[in-house]
Amino acid sequence: MEKREELFSGKAKSVFKTDDPDLFVLQFRDDTSAFDGVKVEKLKDKGKVNNLFNAFIMEKLEQAGIKTHFVKKLSGTESLVKNLDMLPVECVVRNLAAGSICKRYGIEEGLEINPPTFEFFLKNDALHDPMINDYHIVSFGWADPTHIEEMKKQTFKVNEVLKDLFKNGNMLLVDYKLEFGLCNDELLLGDEFSPDGCRIWDAETRNKMDKDRFRQDLGDVIETYKEVGARLGISFD
Ligand code: TMP
Repeated sequence: MEKREELFSGKAKSVFKTDDPDLFVLQFRDDTSAFDGVKVEKLKDKGKVNNLFNAFIMEKLEQAGIKTHFVKKLSGTESLVKNLDMLPVECVVRNLAAGSICKRYGIEEGLEINPPTFEFFLKNDALHDPMINDYHIVSFGWADPTHIEEMKKQTFKVNEVLKDLFKNGNMLLVDYKLEFGLCNDELLLGDEFSPDGCRIWDAETRNKMDKDRFRQDLGDVIETYKEVGARLGISFD
């Protein structure tokens, strides 16, 4: 497999073509963004930490029967993934209230959400990723009804796998965002799973261990990501 020219550069990752049109190289950069790209900084080692973290989680999800785009880790900051036709929606599951749901509905941070709730957002920074519903997705052609149901099913299945995984490391999986894409009409989990796209709290102290440390200027962002990884048994050396 030969890495070729860059196809796309996102806020924190870049995608490169390869000599195989079905495979891309995903490069995790140190760039860290919040509030739809308004706050941007380079955090040393973030690319490596998130690449290794994502590889570990994607492998766990595959083992649990969730189909993903992940093929293999290539280097410290790069992974090989399948070429997906990404659906422009973000799937969010919440176990505890934090972030936008607190502001939107006046809910106190930390309230248990029982049963866990699901939300769709439109992936569009310029519009600040507005919340959308199934009807919008179908009417505007962002995904078809079968893929909508499958995204919900897979996103909740991820919750069952990862809630337990984090619990074993004495952490709470508060919420997370997933993105899916199509590969020959098959729905696969795409993008990444790292502390950039989820909320993780220490189970006892409820100390924030995810990108809220960056959003809220809490400090020790990458040190804390490494601590999350260490508790899951990931080695960053
Ligand atoms: P929210 O509380 O801001 O709606 O975010 C819910 C979860 O989704 C949280 O874990 C952060 C994640 N998320 C992203 O990864 N990217 C995004 O663009 C947004 C809006 C949320």
